[in-house]
Amino acid sequence: MATLQINGQTLDIGTIDPSTPLLWVLRDTLGLVGTKYGCGIAQCGACTVHLNGEPVRSCQIPVGNLSSEQITTIEGLAGADGTLTKIQQAWIDEDVPQCGYCQAGQIMSATALLRKNPNPSDADIDAAMSGNLCRCATYTRIRRAIKVAAGQQTATAFYDAAAAQGERA
Ligand code: FES
Ligand code: FES
Repeated sequence: MATLQINGQTLDIGTIDPSTPLLWVLRDTLGLVGTKYGCGIAQCGACTVHLNGEPVRSCQIPVGNLSSEQITTIEGLAGADGTLTKIQQAWIDEDVPQCGYCQAGQIMSATALLRKNPNPSDADIDAAMSGNLCRCATYTRIRRAIKVAAGQQTATAFYDAAAAQGERA
């Protein structure tokens, strides 16, 4: 029986070919489908997760040598009570996603960036995010959300949850 350390838990992945990419195990074995398959060849960043805090492309990482490594997926970012991280909240406030497909990977890369560099320049942001492609071209909003999360800009708050609740009442 093989196990992985994912989002602070030890999870059983059964008997599995050690060459299987981590992405397949996350999605197909463990049902952690927030991490997306985009290209499968390390070109798009949709499959980005953290391995010991570093952003990696899970489509390229064989699952065989990971039993003692700390893996974090998009499902593991928010607190146990559902409290969002600053990055996640900024993504909502800045209304970043369009189709949303690339966004888990974008958030994982942005989270790793701000942990290492809490006050990134535009060049730092571009460098950290260059491996995450977005077919919907949300790049301007991604950059703005990172700056909001870093405290460099105030939130735009396109989406007002309280107002939306009021409209439905
Ligand atoms: S699916 Fe892994 S980089 Fe595209
Ligand atoms: S939001 Fe559609 S691919 Fe990025």
